[in-house]
Amino acid sequence: MITRILSGIQPTGRFHWGNYFGAIRQYIALQNGKDSAFYFIANLHALTTVREKQQLEQNTLDAALDLLALGLDPNQATLFVQSDVPEISELCWILMTTTPMGLLEKCHAYKDKKAKGLTADAGLFTYPVLMAADILLYDSNFVPVGDDQAQHIEVCRDIAGSFNHVFGETFILPKGHFVEDAAKVPGLDGGGKMSKSYGNTVEVFEALNVQKKKIMGITTDSRPMEEPKDPAGDHLFALYSLFASEEQTKALRETYRKGGFGYGTVKKELVVLAENYFAEARARREELAAKPNEVREVLAAGAATARKKGSEVLRRVKDACGL
Ligand code: ADP
Ligand code: TRP
Repeated sequence: MITRILSGIQPTGRFHWGNYFGAIRQYIALQNGKDSAFYFIANLHALTTVREKQQLEQNTLDAALDLLALGLDPNQATLFVQSDVPEISELCWILMTTTPMGLLEKCHAYKDKKAKGLTADAGLFTYPVLMAADILLYDSNFVPVGDDQAQHIEVCRDIAGSFNHVFGETFILPKGHFVEDAAKVPGLDGGGKMSKSYGNTVEVFEALNVQKKKIMGITTDSRPMEEPKDPAGDHLFALYSLFASEEQTKALRETYRKGGFGYGTVKKELVVLAENYFAEARARREELAAKPNEVREVLAAGAATARKKGSEVLRRVKDACGL
């Protein structure tokens, strides 16, 4: 039985189409009541990469505005900021005391950095323990995440298991839910996935003139217009189909196969489709941005709900280990 859905997203920059179609859209679709769906903005995690005070503050507020504008409903979900629940950091320490070093040494983020000869902070090394604390503090048993987080969910289960082994059954073992209809969103350069780190993104709420310029600049090949083209694996086609209706996608698929079209026309259509797709959310975001205090109230109420549950679990944990 699902008793608690929980997911977090880092405020490391403005959300892009990859974040929305690959993660946020699915998380929001799962919201089913304030007491059971918890979503948070992982600013403590972001602190491992964002080292500018104002930037982190702004990103955190922007993340809240974006999520609310995109349909996260404070009556259907609890939305909070990770650092507003100090119990997280307390639980994180307790969990570290029973987490084997070897478990963390295997984790990609740390391993990749080390393989490149870079020095890592203890924050990056222990990042998975903080994530385990996020999950375990609320007895979460259903954690929707992208495939890239699969290892962290496994580590969380191992951490919970080793604590239970030492101190007796204390934690519920969570399950990752790897969203099935999550789109793999390609980047504008066609080189791979859309990601902040590759600079090939369109932000969900990017200014429309900037968005248009980016779309018109999507990399395409220089084959003659007449030549038939394969829609499979074509990033412009993939981006178009995120916003288009089934019929529109079908029609474009046929056009590709027939040939005799210009990529410019497809891009122009994509500009309009993308603008319409997020038009309502954009309007809602503007309304919310004019009332930042209301947004702060939503976050404060969310933190209160999360802390209530979190402090119950933390009490149980401390009782189990003699604190
Ligand atoms: P970025 O790669 O831009 O830094 P993040 O790693 O912060 O993005 O992404 C947060 C979540 O958004 C990921 O866990 C993943 O589920 C989803 N996501 C990010 N980029 C994509 C993409 N191009 N396609 C599908 N999902 C994505
Ligand atoms: N590490 C996740 C990411 O980068 C964000 C995150 C932090 C998270 N804590 C979590 C996701 C707990 C799910 C549950 O996307």
